[in-house]
Amino acid sequence: MVIAVGILAMVTMLLVRAPLVQPVPQAIFIFGDGLLDVGNNIYIPGGAEVGEPTRADHPYYGIDFPGSKITGRFSNGYNLADFIAKSMTFEMSPPPYESLPKPSPVKMEGFTGVNYACGDAGIRNSTNGDITYPLMDQVGQFGATRTQLKAQLGGRKPLNIFLSKSLFLIAVGTMDLNPGYNMFLYVPQNDNQTEVQRLIELYGESLTELHAMGARRFGIINVGPCAEYMCDGDMNKVAVEFNGALGPFLSGLQVNLRGFRYSLFDLYGFSNATFQNPSASGFVYTGSACWPGYGSPCSNRTEFWFWDDYGYITEQAAKVTASAFYNGTANFTTPVKLMRLFPKRI
Ligand SMILES: *[C@@H]1O[C@H](CO)[C@@H](O)[C@H](O)[C@H]1NC(C)=O
Ligand SMILES: *[C@@H]1O[C@H](CO)[C@@H](O)[C@H](O)[C@H]1NC(C)=O
Ligand SMILES: *[C@@H]1O[C@H](CO)[C@@H](O)[C@H](O)[C@H]1NC(C)=O
Ligand SMILES: *[C@@H]1O[C@H](CO)[C@@H](O)[C@H](O)[C@H]1NC(C)=O
Ligand SMILES: *[C@@H]1O[C@H](CO)[C@@H](O)[C@H](O)[C@H]1NC(C)=O
Ligand SMILES: *[C@@H]1O[C@H](CO)[C@@H](O)[C@H](O)[C@H]1NC(C)=O
Repeated sequence: MVIAVGILAMVTMLLVRAPLVQPVPQAIFIFGDGLLDVGNNIYIPGGAEVGEPTRADHPYYGIDFPGSKITGRFSNGYNLADFIAKSMTFEMSPPPYESLPKPSPVKMEGFTGVNYACGDAGIRNSTNGDITYPLMDQVGQFGATRTQLKAQLGGRKPLNIFLSKSLFLIAVGTMDLNPGYNMFLYVPQNDNQTEVQRLIELYGESLTELHAMGARRFGIINVGPCAEYMCDGDMNKVAVEFNGALGPFLSGLQVNLRGFRYSLFDLYGFSNATFQNPSASGFVYTGSACWPGYGSPCSNRTEFWFWDDYGYITEQAAKVTASAFYNGTANFTTPVKLMRLFPKRI
């Protein structure tokens, strides 16, 4: 009897042994700004006047996308959201929330997640809040998706399992650190905190909210350096301050929030390193944009780091960035590479 049970256990172990391939997330939920936006910006209402939404809906956006299609990506082709999804065996980023029927999803077949990221979005509600969906709004949109997912999956338990095996990818903060968009940046408040400290706390509220809704595995991208030609004031200085505070903050969340795991990608450090030695990763130009807004874009777009006037990066830059984040040999991730968030068996 004991032997039979032992053999049965061994057979069972062999049968359920994890395949050698790296498991992939069940789904990817994406939040943040134009770095990860795959088209939400196109749906933002508003006219062609001062304060209009910034939309990636005109030529030459998408010139290198299959079919040269304009999709609302601030890129000449695929963007960082796409390449991260691709590295995890998805075809591209999940679709933009705004493009989906409401409520959604109506079936699980083919469901790969949702992308809520929207151009110009910040951590603060007041950072471009009238022309985009700030992080908290995006978290609210995820709440609507979650309600629908719970119904589709058949209750709270399967929902929580599904979400715990999904990736929550976030890149936000750049817009909050632009003095043109955040009136609190250099104005002293009476709480003795710097604006960076306040931003980190607000960011933490969104992350905690996502965790409360079932998110467990977070891929977080810090704030990259601004493009030389559009740096405003001390933007890089506050970016470095923000990034310096983000790491310890996340490691604190990991201690305090049950099951919270993350991979933080140092986009600033990675970009900075690339700018020091562009040719090592095949770039020629890192101080100017391929398509500065008027006329035609440069002919060889793989040579440029920056794509447009707003400091968004090219498809090629997104590609090398995603691979550094996912499983790069140089160490720009803490405490683990993105790949390690999905170990052999989860
Ligand atoms: C930001 O907006 C959300 C709604 O999306 C709201 O729940 C929250 O209270 C607002 N936060 C602040 C600080 O105003
Ligand atoms: C701010 O700092 C001053 C001087 O250290 C202190 O007197 C004051 O109570 C602080 N204010 C707050 C809101 O913490
Ligand atoms: C950027 O690179 C330079 C040169 O390697 C280095 O001195 C500087 O500390 C880097 N800055 C950041 C924020 O990593
Ligand atoms: C584009 O630039 C890259 C990097 O300099 C080079 O390897 C490639 O051959 C160029 N492509 C064309 C079509 O000129
Ligand atoms: C990283 O992942 C990609 C895609 O899965 C794979 O092709 C590549 O060999 C991996 N590189 C390393 C260093 O593991
Ligand atoms: C490299 O990653 C390890 C964790 O894997 C981390 O402790 C260390 O700080 C990282 N080093 C650098 C230079 O970022």
